[in-house]
Amino acid sequence: MKIIYHAHSCFSIITDTHHLLIDPFITGNPLAKIEAASLKPDVILLTHGHNDHVGDALSLAKQQNALIIAPVELADYCQRCGVKRTHPLQIGGSYSFDFGKIKLTPTLHSSAFTDDRGQTIYTGNPCGILFYLANKIIYHAGDTGLSQEMMLIDDSNHIDLALLPIGDNYTMGTHDAILAAKLLKPKQVVPMHYNTFEIITQDPQPFAQQLTALGIGCTILAPEEALTL
Ligand code: NI
Ligand code: MN
Repeated sequence: MKIIYHAHSCFSIITDTHHLLIDPFITGNPLAKIEAASLKPDVILLTHGHNDHVGDALSLAKQQNALIIAPVELADYCQRCGVKRTHPLQIGGSYSFDFGKIKLTPTLHSSAFTDDRGQTIYTGNPCGILFYLANKIIYHAGDTGLSQEMMLIDDSNHIDLALLPIGDNYTMGTHDAILAAKLLKPKQVVPMHYNTFEIITQDPQPFAQQLTALGIGCTILAPEEALTL
């Protein structure tokens, strides 16, 4: 399968049969290299309600008749906004879809959506997402601080790819993301949620070097770069 980085926390996972799109913040993202409308996802997965993660999800879901998978209150909000197909999940819960299994994982963060009128809508608990797809395990950490829960994210210790925030300020910085990688023991890490805004400026190179020294692979993806898993 192919994993494409669309900047910030947005990734496409392209399998033989499906296009899964995570946290599609394209419009208004200064690092975005594409138009949101060029993406044709079958499934959109949201880690939490912050606007830099929900992004274009509502309009894309309506255009593509895509399924939105999200924490319960956020899935409910998407439905209230006119999205026809939603699937609510809670942290710790998993569900087997036709494309593979999804499980929501804990994060240390918050979750609310600010709508066009400036109203703040509570959108439940923020989460990370575990993907079990074609014998591969991918972990998208969402927005989170470092936590001991990461030891239990996947107890088989066979995460093939961990997508970890490194931007600091709103999430883990590089120091804590290294500790997170030690707990998660993934084969490979791709850093995310950095350099989108000045306040989350980070140099990913030293982070990659430290991971490599620990025997963990690290691939720094530029926007629209892809890796094959
Ligand atoms: Ni957030
Ligand atoms: Mn964020």
